Amino acid sequence: MKVIITENYEEMSKKAAEIIISVVKNNPNCVLGLATGSSPIGTYQNMIKDHKENGTSYKNVSTVNLDEYVGLTADHNQSYAYFMRENLFKGIEIDMNNTNLPCGSAKDLQAECDRYNALLETKTQDIQVLGLGSNGHIGFNEPGTPLSSVTHIVDLTESTIKDNSRLFNSIDEVPRQALSMGIKNIMQAKSIIMVVSGKNKAEAVKGMVKGEITVDLPASVLQLHPNVTIVCDKDAASLL
Ligand code: F6R
Repeated sequence: MKVIITENYEEMSKKAAEIIISVVKNNPNCVLGLATGSSPIGTYQNMIKDHKENGTSYKNVSTVNLDEYVGLTADHNQSYAYFMRENLFKGIEIDMNNTNLPCGSAKDLQAECDRYNALLETKTQDIQVLGLGSNGHIGFNEPGTPLSSVTHIVDLTESTIKDNSRLFNSIDEVPRQALSMGIKNIMQAKSIIMVVSGKNKAEAVKGMVKGEITVDLPASVLQLHPNVTIVCDKDAASLL
């Protein structure tokens, strides 16, 4: 596990974007595993800037996202499909047919998980972007999720609902469930890059990097992956 500590969020975002862009340049047909949330927004902005200034092409790139809220359609402004369009896809001229997220409004949620797992078997992520939950979750794999898990329906924990409520008008509007890639789907990526910032993540960063590998802190499993880079700002790294 390689840990890069940056001065602040801006530097973290630049560094992470550089790493992702070099994967795209080396393999224009690559598969990017993507995350939503506050952590990667700056990374995505740097990718858009690079696309505009240097012409890095996403024409043949495909993407698979980690997760989606249950009950929100792709055009709902809090859905992760909407987030990805607004924060990345529309800025890099990617073919939307090559972008994939679990569908949170599917009638049969288990069938949707099965579809997504089958898709992931055909799309190994060349690089998987991750954020880190303050409780150590990756994707929406909350503490206690087995390491062998694949895409599944998740009951979000109170702490995650509370963390995510900042983006909604009220906590009551935050969906209680999500569809998430499992830990096994994440670990299949050829390389993983995590972006983390802020003091509220410091405890989880410490456990992930220095603690024992335990389902109680799902991100600790990344210690077992051969090619992981954590890019974190100095606040998130403050307990290392
Ligand atoms: C998002 C995701 C989550 C977030 C995590 C951190 O697709 O899978 O695991 O990465 O909750 O969220 P932020 O970056 O908003 O602190």
